[in-house]
Amino acid sequence: MLKDKVILLGVTGGIAAYKAADLASRLTKEGCDVHVILTQNATEFITPLTFETLTGNKCLTSTFDRNFEWDVKHVSLAKCADAVVIAPATANVIAKLAHGLADDMLTTTVLAATCPKLVFPAMNTAMYENPITQDNIECLRRYGFTVAEPASGVLACKDVGKGRLPDTDTIVSAIAGEIACPHDMKGLHVLVTAGPTCEAIDPVRYITNHSTGKMGYALAEAAQQRGANVTLVSGKTNLKSPDGVTVVPVTSAQDMYRAVLSISDEYDVIIKTAAVADYRPKQAAQNKIKKSDADMSIPLVRNPDILAELGRRKRDSQFLCGFSMETENLLANSADKLQKKNADMIVANSLTTPGAGFGADTNLVSLITREGISQLERMPKAQLAQVILDTILKLR
Ligand code: CTP
Repeated sequence: MLKDKVILLGVTGGIAAYKAADLASRLTKEGCDVHVILTQNATEFITPLTFETLTGNKCLTSTFDRNFEWDVKHVSLAKCADAVVIAPATANVIAKLAHGLADDMLTTTVLAATCPKLVFPAMNTAMYENPITQDNIECLRRYGFTVAEPASGVLACKDVGKGRLPDTDTIVSAIAGEIACPHDMKGLHVLVTAGPTCEAIDPVRYITNHSTGKMGYALAEAAQQRGANVTLVSGKTNLKSPDGVTVVPVTSAQDMYRAVLSISDEYDVIIKTAAVADYRPKQAAQNKIKKSDADMSIPLVRNPDILAELGRRKRDSQFLCGFSMETENLLANSADKLQKKNADMIVANSLTTPGAGFGADTNLVSLITREGISQLERMPKAQLAQVILDTILKLR
């Protein structure tokens, strides 16, 4: 996958710079043409000669180096790169990139590059967790950079915590994944809903369902990786927010309705994986309901149907994808939802099929569109997310 790819490796001035030599060597052995740019501070930790010996290419350190063939190097390198990788990335270079500063060979080249850009922060835990650094990382993600989570362990400063450069294998597979991933959703605004809703009975209890949010989170992550600007409106889950995705947490169906409908106009693609409660208790009690010897029943009232409302408001260029979960008559009931809710696609899954539905890491679904039904094989939810996005792009 990495053979013949041109990788521009930026190395900045942190102690993990020595590990970049191993990375440059591994990428070269994988068949990449590796061009290394060292910042001035990085040359305090490791020499250009190390990288030149490992890669066979001149290692660049200065924008004003006149000792090479005549072209504008920061532009020509940026143009031919398949990926820019900055490993390790210090808090300083992250701050500079987030604000468009271009005062050395590395930052000018990154600013000129339009290929995928991966950043591997490595620094002291307090520096990494500092809200200024975290804001800068968020900013880079908004601009389309992929910023990896650092590994945890004993750091060079003897602190224990987050801030280590991930091992070479992890970095190489992240680069391979980034290069393989098509960036065909650039410029698209995608809204995903995920997880269950919780409908309060009293301050202690609520009605909910078994949704874990896995499918919606996989879709949000995949769309983000493909270059889309993604917002995830999520009910309660135990999942980590996908990097680079704006997450709007909600609790009830009414919360989700308000959150989705207040922003839906701005989105090109809306994917409703959330398992929304159709009913809620008519009145949520102010105080905890005490038990008595008598049986009890709770009056329920209808919740708004968010997908149906989106279908009513849909503009022509907007693509609306719903999900449908059934225990019987899967295809007929799901095709009915496509029509009634004015959706462009319904992803239908049966709760009774092994390896599908709530909580599973795989899913077995049929895609129902106005053009027909296509039955997919069982596959991991991350892979299914890619297939669903492929289909949406084809139909749009
Ligand atoms: N949905 C919604 N708002 C609701 C109920 C469902 O937006 N109040 C959406 C879901 O997010 C999903 C689709 O509608 O994308 C289908 O949901 P599902 O629960 O399978 O079907 P329902 O329309 O609720 O119908 P039923 O429960 O009778 O099968």
